[in-house]
Amino acid sequence: MATTAPTGSPPSQPSLTHPPPPRKLTTVKAIARLSSIPSIYTFPKQPYHEPVSDTKEPIPTIDFSLLASSHPDERSETIREFGKACRDWGFFMVTNHGVPERMMKAIIEACREFFELPEEEKRGISIFNESVDEILCWRDYVKIFQHPEFHSPNKPPSFREIALEYSKRVRLVAREIIRGISESLGLEKDYIDETLNLKNGLQLIAANLYPPCLRPELAMGLPPHSDHGILTLLIQNQIGGLQVQHKGKWVNIDPIPNSFLANIGDHIEILSNGKYKSVLHRAVVNNRDVRISIAVPHGPALDAIVSPASKLICDPETTVPTRPKIELLQNPPAYGAMKYKEYLELQQGTMLNGKSCLERIRKGV
Ligand code: OGA
Ligand code: NI
Repeated sequence: MATTAPTGSPPSQPSLTHPPPPRKLTTVKAIARLSSIPSIYTFPKQPYHEPVSDTKEPIPTIDFSLLASSHPDERSETIREFGKACRDWGFFMVTNHGVPERMMKAIIEACREFFELPEEEKRGISIFNESVDEILCWRDYVKIFQHPEFHSPNKPPSFREIALEYSKRVRLVAREIIRGISESLGLEKDYIDETLNLKNGLQLIAANLYPPCLRPELAMGLPPHSDHGILTLLIQNQIGGLQVQHKGKWVNIDPIPNSFLANIGDHIEILSNGKYKSVLHRAVVNNRDVRISIAVPHGPALDAIVSPASKLICDPETTVPTRPKIELLQNPPAYGAMKYKEYLELQQGTMLNGKSCLERIRKGV
């Protein structure tokens, strides 16, 4: 289904605004029943003021099953596709991943049921809008640790079993894609897995519910940001809303049933010394349908220190220069080393704002 950008230009003054509701006391699902939009939900930089690309260039689609192909050519071609997708888009679709469709549907339904629980039952589990947000997003969301420690809400009763099964299967797919990305960078297949200790890596379920919005042009589901970590795998009910920044414009990403939308995170940008970049994306809302998306971010182990891979840099201070001098000058480390846990803490204390967190550890900016 196509994403639902409303037509016509938005009014410059949000005429349907009211004083803000008490913060953190309610969900956007409840606010969506009001006949107007509280002003704290109206974005200063409204999503439809920026042009959306009419590019016909499709987002890359990669057949995951070819990674296991017994034809070495098919595997190496797939690795090349990963490299191209990471360089050109930072986002790609993954098909034939082996996670059963019924499991993908079950986790979406389990999250929908979770969001439908009475508000008292979600409190303490569901994170509403963080206090650092100045403007609130038109979404309810919950983030649940899946690995290295598994957590689950107790309700709905089926949630635990479905989440456990889903997150295990998705983690296998993610680690295999990360092996492919590692090879595509010219590193050992297991370089990222081992260096960032993915055996103990972080995995979350981040479920988002975007209720229909009376004035979708005034609100923002999720403002532009890049994801922390290594690789996020996202599914959604078949309602569009995700937009990805590509060649300076926003591109609507239409869901493909039964596939994952994958994107690389800030820690691939750091590890690859900027060869691959994490990409800004955002979610816009519509006035018709409830949209549910489930993002599963995968990160390093919390105590892993992430820095540019030594093979991808030539640091005059730490490596013996075996390469021509010109290359040495071209590849100094562009990012400082930082523990993943500290990066997350830094991000949590910052407003969700583009790639501001990554900028803070970039050298020379
Ligand atoms: C996220 C995210 C996009 C979406 O949760 O980090 O980018 O479509 N979600 O909900
Ligand atoms: Ni994201």
